[in-house]
Amino acid sequence: MSGLIEKYREHLPIGEDDPVVSLDEGGTPLLHAPVISERVGARVYLKIEGANPTGSFKDRGMTVAVSRAVKNGAEAVICASTGNTAASAAAYAARAGLRGAVIVPEGKIAIGKLAQALMHGARVIAIRGNFDDALRIVRELAETHPIELVNSVNPFRIEGQKTAAFEVCEQLGGPPDALAIPVGNAGNVTAYRRGFDEAGGAMPMLLGFQAAGAAPLVLGHPVDNPETVASAIRIGNPARWEEAMDAVTSSRGRVAAVDDEQILSAYRLLASGEGVFCEPASASSVAGLLTHGLPENAEGGKPETVVCVLTGHGLKDPDTALGKAPSVIGCEPELAAVERIVFAD
Ligand code: F0G
Repeated sequence: MSGLIEKYREHLPIGEDDPVVSLDEGGTPLLHAPVISERVGARVYLKIEGANPTGSFKDRGMTVAVSRAVKNGAEAVICASTGNTAASAAAYAARAGLRGAVIVPEGKIAIGKLAQALMHGARVIAIRGNFDDALRIVRELAETHPIELVNSVNPFRIEGQKTAAFEVCEQLGGPPDALAIPVGNAGNVTAYRRGFDEAGGAMPMLLGFQAAGAAPLVLGHPVDNPETVASAIRIGNPARWEEAMDAVTSSRGRVAAVDDEQILSAYRLLASGEGVFCEPASASSVAGLLTHGLPENAEGGKPETVVCVLTGHGLKDPDTALGKAPSVIGCEPELAAVERIVFAD
């Protein structure tokens, strides 16, 4: 037995005899973060979703969506993606023996994700447009062709992703007071809300963070040309806009923006201070806490236990990492020369 369908089947739309396509996703670590806790003034935990099989939380939704696609007799799956959905869809399609097609914005996809999607045998199509254009096209294609759309507009994706909230409650022995999460197409915040609802107990304050150059929910209108270093959330018109806003406001949370500098500074702090290498978009949850602090709860106090969702692994995007990290130091192959550099101040 493996994977989250086996573990949470009674909470998922998968029957006893239904096909299961799994790569043993879920069961990711919840790690205490002492350095960030100190700075935020709360007990902060990191939900390390980069530990999923393809390196992001998308696998939680994909196992359910692709299992249902197989049950429905689909022969192919398709998605639009900023990277992680593409890699995940391609891997689960390969596992299921289905054809996979992924549509990505040209030149805007991190190299690690392209490598995955291509290696898993998906047809990768780069359009001269952004994620929002790609999503519009795949929605139309899926309406007119027998192909399963596996973006988070697919309800089974949300069902799978809600299991992360179940895990957080199990790991903490109850829901946290607040949950900080990056928001792009707004599927994941919707999924956590559903998961906490179904888990019972108090709803955590949901704090959604968008990149300042791609912050439609904060601005209250779509953004035509979203721009940010956090390529995963470079999205100008989220598909689950209303549900996300409803989740955030009904939990007494909020959506706020963080700029690229704040995102990159949290990205470096997580890697060098906590030993956790996530991708820039994921670091926006921590950047949001560090920048905006914690709002008061209904009782006028501050949340004490906070979970930051680190949605994807840092190895996705080695180019951004190397561009922001200190340089490699060249050296002659001599003991004294190496010694000087190792022990320099
Ligand atoms: N973090 C990462 C690492 C992501 O890849 C995404 C979305 C998000 C956060 C935002 O989640 O869209 O549910 O609000 N990535 C999608 C993709 C769009 O194509 O991989 P959301």
